[in-house]
Amino acid sequence: MSENHDDEGVVRRDRFSGGPARGFMSSLAADERIFAADLAVDRAHVVMLAEQGIVDEATAGEILSALDAVEAEGHAALPDGEDVHEAIETAVIERIGPDGGKMHTARSRNDEVATCIRYRLREDLLSAVEATLALRESLVEAAEAEAETVMPGYTHLQPAQPTTVAHYLLSYEAAFARDTARLVDAYDRTNRSPLGAAAFAGTPFDVDREKTADLLGFDGVLRNSMDASSARDFLLESASALATHATTLSGLAEDLVLFSNKGFVELSDDYSSTSSIMPQKVNPDTLELVRAVAGDAASGVSGLLTTLKGLPRAYNRDLQRATPHAWETVDIVSEATAVAAGAVSSATWPAETLESAAGEGFSTATGVADALAMAGLPFRTAHEVVAAAAERGGDGTPDLATLDASAEDVLDASLFEYVSRSDVEQALDPVASVESRDSAGGPAPAAVAAQLDEASTDLDSHREALAERREALDSASERLAADVEVMSRD
Ligand code: ARG
Repeated sequence: MSENHDDEGVVRRDRFSGGPARGFMSSLAADERIFAADLAVDRAHVVMLAEQGIVDEATAGEILSALDAVEAEGHAALPDGEDVHEAIETAVIERIGPDGGKMHTARSRNDEVATCIRYRLREDLLSAVEATLALRESLVEAAEAEAETVMPGYTHLQPAQPTTVAHYLLSYEAAFARDTARLVDAYDRTNRSPLGAAAFAGTPFDVDREKTADLLGFDGVLRNSMDASSARDFLLESASALATHATTLSGLAEDLVLFSNKGFVELSDDYSSTSSIMPQKVNPDTLELVRAVAGDAASGVSGLLTTLKGLPRAYNRDLQRATPHAWETVDIVSEATAVAAGAVSSATWPAETLESAAGEGFSTATGVADALAMAGLPFRTAHEVVAAAAERGGDGTPDLATLDASAEDVLDASLFEYVSRSDVEQALDPVASVESRDSAGGPAPAAVAAQLDEASTDLDSHREALAERREALDSASERLAADVEVMSRD
């Protein structure tokens, strides 16, 4: 592409052919991603120009037909150009002659490209939102099935307290719900139209910015034209929301890798691979890759931060290199989210292994201390009694005699002056221990049932938010198509 200097005449004057740096300057290949967006933006702009009497309707009709032909031939058939905007304009002029150049009245590539990126990113953000919803659904479904499956819970990767698989899974669902909300917020700030800002300083033509915003499905216009053509904080906000989500995702992936190592979860073969040399191996490769995607997303964010930092107003060509960071981030994070959803919904949780592991490492110690505190001992003193028993008991769970001996040491009284034997036995039993922790948000099946209800309600409202936004975009597309048709007919 960069060797072909022959066909540049129409938009680019020879003096600015680019010379040896032509290939370096061009974003045409990367702009394939915004080819459809540019056609929509061109159409909306031309319809508006005609409605405002800035371009006559006959010319507008010709331009719109030429755009149909350019669309039918596809991005690959575009003539050479510095970018997709220039190449499409060249293709229109090649078809209908110099009047095709009226398409670029009252705009600049600066507002055009900003509009195209926002237009396309919206779709990608909605797909990312959808991926988070599917992941959350898979977590909720697995949590419903494993509401009573007791498992060990960890802090510092040391056995801490028994919990349930449902409680564990819903901990991620709750975090992913915030990730969804951040993506929706990023969408809403992305969905504002820069079109009509021109290079940055507006235009003397009587443009109707609200009209093009409406035809392109934007929620309104960016009010300052210099901001409109310069701003890329929407890319940064979107990439940050995605990176935050990818970071949450990496925690889930890491847990599942660890759990599969301990036999606490069985991943389906579809989400595992084997070794090329060790035939017995079933490796959680997909989740390791999901874990790694947080690194990709962080690099997208830092690519954007460092590219955007310290740029002067208004448009600078650096911005061309900002855009791909956003595409790469949204693609890889959405894919990782979908893979994680598949891994979760196809995984099985071996209940017996989990339950027996849940009692290991005296993970019920807190429960025994709680029982003593409930009987009136200060919690700190109760903690001391149980800690002394833990020390005597070695690695395992101390028996009643050991606990009683520690009580004698610390309290000068028998343990059973405070609690009954059966209360202590209950506290030492992982299943009873989980059942007792029924505070709001806790792991007891009754508390988990409430969390499941809330999760489903949140999911419904996010599903609705997604559908509303998609419908708004679809109906704008219909309005644009209808206006284009009217104008092409006249
Ligand atoms: N390809 C450019 C970009 O992505 C389009 C805008 C070019 N504008 C300019 N003044 N050179 O930013």
